[in-house]
Amino acid sequence: MRYNVDLSRGSPTPALRAWNEVYNLVWIRSHGLRGTRVGVESFTNRYRSRDDANCFMVMWLRNLDRITKTLEETTQLNTLTFLDVGCGTGIPTLYAATRYEFADLRGFDFEAPLIEDARRNQEKFPKAGRRCTFDVGDASQLKLPKARYLLFLANPFGERVLEQFISNNLDILASTRSYIAMVNDHGIQNVMATSGVSLVHRNPTYNCSLLSVGDADG
Ligand SMILES: C[S@@+](CC[C@H](N)C(=O)[O-])C[C@H]1O[C@@H](n2cnc3c(N)ncnc32)[C@H](O)[C@@H]1O
Repeated sequence: MRYNVDLSRGSPTPALRAWNEVYNLVWIRSHGLRGTRVGVESFTNRYRSRDDANCFMVMWLRNLDRITKTLEETTQLNTLTFLDVGCGTGIPTLYAATRYEFADLRGFDFEAPLIEDARRNQEKFPKAGRRCTFDVGDASQLKLPKARYLLFLANPFGERVLEQFISNNLDILASTRSYIAMVNDHGIQNVMATSGVSLVHRNPTYNCSLLSVGDADG
């Protein structure tokens, strides 16, 4: 299927970049969270693939708001499990838990030290943190349990693993009419070319996309 959408890669102005980064810093510091982990030497997967685990950074939290705003116009958040794929220190999941009424919020990452940090960060949110679960898991192997998802992909890995993860779970995603959010959406063309996947909206300044699987809003 051909889409008449702008797939060019945008680049926010320096002022916009600074604003998004300051927003992150303020939120992370005001809650006393561990953001970017320094001890990457303790990671177990860092040499596995250049594409997959060679960088760790927290996504711009305002991009989560941008995507969720579009999603709210399309469906009810309380019908969805928010799943941060490659959740790192859990900050986007915890941010979502403080602001949005998802039915359930989960995150997984293949680096156990990051999941330990995510669980420490979770303790800073006595109420919203209770709605979140963080686990160690590898996207290239994982078969998702049945739920209606918002798969939250903040550029966690390269296109090979992305394709593997989506094709391993396509049946569940389609039968539950799930959604996929891509922040910094490298590989969007391949995802859009997957059977049953349709683009709902793309923000060409921030390279953020929302896609539905299996007639999600039908
Ligand atoms: C750019 S970081 C983003 C972290 C988090 N989403 C955030 O914005 O704070 C990408 C994360 O994906 C994880 N990752 C990479 N490949 C993975 C895989 N195959 N399975 C699970 N996690 C993976 C890395 O360990 C890293 O924490």
